[in-house]
Amino acid sequence: MTAARTACQNRPMPASRSPVPDFLYGTAWKEERTAPLTELALGAGFRGIDTANQRKHYFEAGVGHALAAAYRAGVVTREQLFLQTKFTYQPGQDHRLPYDPAASYSIQVAQSLASSLEHLGTDYVDSYVLHGPVSGYGWTPADAATWEAMIRERNAGRARFLGVSNVRRHHLEQMEVTRAEMPSFVQNRCYARFGWDRDVRLFCRERNIVYQGFSLLTANPEVLRDRLVTFLGMELHATPAQIVFAFSLAVGMLPLTGTSDSDHMKQDLAARQLKLAPDTVQMIESLAG
Ligand SMILES: NC(=O)c1ccc[n+]([C@@H]2O[C@H](COP(=O)([O-])OP(=O)(O)OC[C@H]3O[C@@H](n4cnc5c(N)ncnc54)[C@H](OP(=O)(O)O)[C@@H]3O)[C@@H](O)[C@H]2O)c1
Repeated sequence: MTAARTACQNRPMPASRSPVPDFLYGTAWKEERTAPLTELALGAGFRGIDTANQRKHYFEAGVGHALAAAYRAGVVTREQLFLQTKFTYQPGQDHRLPYDPAASYSIQVAQSLASSLEHLGTDYVDSYVLHGPVSGYGWTPADAATWEAMIRERNAGRARFLGVSNVRRHHLEQMEVTRAEMPSFVQNRCYARFGWDRDVRLFCRERNIVYQGFSLLTANPEVLRDRLVTFLGMELHATPAQIVFAFSLAVGMLPLTGTSDSDHMKQDLAARQLKLAPDTVQMIESLAG
């Protein structure tokens, strides 16, 4: 277990609530298959689910249907699960908004989270994530107001932890400079050609923030074809995808997968058992960036 994850788990929380898992199942882009695939993922052993109240890319209510079915079937209880959802600004949404766009950010956050809790059939989420800042250039007053609103929701018990997504290092540095509360999670697309988001990962590691990596496979097709990765796969009887996930875990990431394939679900989870030597991890880390 990484230092970052240990630190996150050490934050006060009732003993009955789930720890931060070591893999997240992502539910984007599944539309009417969201419920059956989420149920399949829970059956395969995933205990962390990532979604968003952004109907354009996610069907959050479908996740809720899968959870209800899994509870009914005795597959898992709410307390054994780590549920993560997101607040998405209007430009990232289509017409199916979970809030009144004319309202203040504070009200939008409260309305969006209330709707998420209804979709997911719960009275709290384990992690509530700002889907992305308003601007790529910096942490704006709008972000600060939204973040404050998210903190209020967390303090009211409707979320255990907070996170930010799609951020660059300067966003996080600005949060720190303005003395904003720092997130427990950062969720970013992880490109090998940028040192696997090295700048942001280092920032997170130094502050015990858990880095969640998505698109580990789709953003890095050149890594999946790489000779070292192919060779390691043969040596460890693993697929290149499994080597990438094992690498991500070895460097302290919390990886996401959104696979729609039941064999891949099992393979992705099995990657947790693969052990890579430290020099191998270093070689993969510097493969492309
Ligand atoms: N915060 C954000 O803005 C943001 C943005 C994008 C995504 N996300 C989150 O991250 C989740 C994951 O998204 P993603 O971008 O990483 O892509 P993804 O939707 O998970 O796609 C993964 C791809 O890898 C393949 N795959 C997975 N496991 C494999 C394996 N063991 N062997 C071979 N192929 C495998 C899948 O194909 P098969 O289906 O055939 O296995 C799929 O084509 C999303 O569902 C969402 O929850 C967040």
